[in-house]
Amino acid sequence: MTVSFVEASEVPVRNTGAIKLHGEEGFEGMRKAGQLAAQALDLMVEHVQPGQTTEHLDKVAFEFAMDNGASPAPLYYRGFPKSICTSLNHVVCHGIPIDKPMREGDIVNIDITLVVDGWHGDSSRMYPVGEISRRAERLIDITWESLQRGIAAVKPGATTGDIGAAIQDYAESERTSVVRDFCGHGLGRLFHDVPNILHYGTAGTGVPLKPGMFFTIEPMINLGRPHVKVLADGWTAVTRDRSLSAQFEHSIAVTEDGAEIFTLSPGGFHKPPYV
Ligand code: MF3
Ligand code: CO
Ligand code: CO
Repeated sequence: MTVSFVEASEVPVRNTGAIKLHGEEGFEGMRKAGQLAAQALDLMVEHVQPGQTTEHLDKVAFEFAMDNGASPAPLYYRGFPKSICTSLNHVVCHGIPIDKPMREGDIVNIDITLVVDGWHGDSSRMYPVGEISRRAERLIDITWESLQRGIAAVKPGATTGDIGAAIQDYAESERTSVVRDFCGHGLGRLFHDVPNILHYGTAGTGVPLKPGMFFTIEPMINLGRPHVKVLADGWTAVTRDRSLSAQFEHSIAVTEDGAEIFTLSPGGFHKPPYV
């Protein structure tokens, strides 16, 4: 595998195959986009209720974007029909908001990507719908911790494989499984860029991390087996064994001494339950 790096400010806005290293302008742009996406996720807390629909959440997110001079990146992205992804229970990711009430005991991942001044802030969190089961709570906790372990592995000189290994080692030690079919991704002025950030793998392998790299970490963790299938709508990914699945996502940068998280909750909705 050959890996190359370029100064982000000196290349066109497209996936050239080289990994972009961003300077201060990129950090400023990503802080704004990341904070707005995180604020939108904060806003979802009061709207996730038994009886409420995911279509309602989509509408609230769309209006929040419009009111704040942002655009929802998923809308019409490769034909995706809505502004956000809402993935309930055994849906692993890319769930499409619909006009159907959520029920007490459901768990839902809301994934919001907002574009602000051309920069993409991409983040997702789990939300309990009313009271949830102990096993759902446990899965959410393990998935949240998996993301923290992944982020903790980020520093110059570490590799993308260190991130994946940290996540996989932890998730499997808790007898849960890591989804292989979707991964984190470089982002910035592009929504999905190189490198791929696998949530499993071997420490010391993959791409070396350098200051100024921007990417997401977004582990999907299942209570059952890791295998997924995509439904006939072409988007909705579900666990093959219909076991519960959870996900958290942050957009981050590699800094001189670790990571900067662009999408931390400004409202302090750090970890569910958000009370
Ligand atoms: N936000 C998702 C991610 O984390 C991508 C959603 S693409 C969509 O990369 F088209 F499904 F919305
Ligand atoms: Co993402
Ligand atoms: Co996302």
